[in-house]
Amino acid sequence: MFFRLSILIFLSSTISGLAQPLPDCRYDDVPTYHQELSDWQISLLDTIYKLSPTYQPTDLIKVSEAGFGSEKEVRQLMLADLQALNDAARAAGMFLEIQSAFRSYGYQEQTFQSWVNQDGLEAALKSSARAGHSEHQLGTAIDFRSASGPAAWELEDWATTPEGAWLKEHAWQYGFVMSYPKNKEAITCYIYEPWHYRYVGREIAQKLKDSGLSLREWLWQAQ
Ligand code: DAL
Ligand code: ZN
Repeated sequence: MFFRLSILIFLSSTISGLAQPLPDCRYDDVPTYHQELSDWQISLLDTIYKLSPTYQPTDLIKVSEAGFGSEKEVRQLMLADLQALNDAARAAGMFLEIQSAFRSYGYQEQTFQSWVNQDGLEAALKSSARAGHSEHQLGTAIDFRSASGPAAWELEDWATTPEGAWLKEHAWQYGFVMSYPKNKEAITCYIYEPWHYRYVGREIAQKLKDSGLSLREWLWQAQ
C-alpha cells in the first residue's frame, strides 16, 4: 500500500511542476501542461515549454475596440480591462500604442527568423521566442510603446519614459504583468523587456505583485 502510494506521489510530481524546483534556463520543446484555451491564465511558456502549432484563440478582436489606433488582435476576454487601462493612461496624460499583440505559431516562426537574420541566433534566442514558446500565441500578450515614439525596443529603457513608467506602476491594477523584468534574466530566460505585458486578470496580477515573484516563477508554482 505504502509502496503504491509512493509511486503515485512520484508520478504526479513528475507530471506537474509541484514540488520540483524551477528548471534552469535551457532550450527545449516540451508541451506545456495547460493548453486549453480556458487555461490562458496559467499556461506556462518559456524557452522550455511550448504550445502546439494548432493553438489559436477563437475570440480574437481588434485592439482598436479598446481605443487604440492599431488593428492588432487580442482575446475578447481582456477587452474591458484593456479599455480601462487605456482610459486611465489617457486620463493621466499618457498615450500608449500597441506594437504587437496576438501572433500565430506561423507568424512567430517568421518573427524569430527575422531577429536571427538581424542579430544572429545567439542574440535572437535571448530576445525572441521560438515558435510555440511565445506568450503572444496566447492572444493575451501585448508589446506596448508610446504613441509618439518608435518601437520600445529601439530605446535604451522604455520604462524610464513617461508612458513606460506609468505602465510599469499601474499595469497590475488592470490585470497585466511585465513578463520579463529588469535583472531577472537568469529566471525569466529572456532579456529585460519593459514593453512586454501579459494579461492574467486582476486577481492574479494582484497576487503576483504581492508575492514579488516573476511571472515564470509564479506560473511554475501553479502547474
Ligand atoms: N520577446 C518575447 C520573448 C517573445 O518573442 O514572445
Ligand atoms: Zn512581446
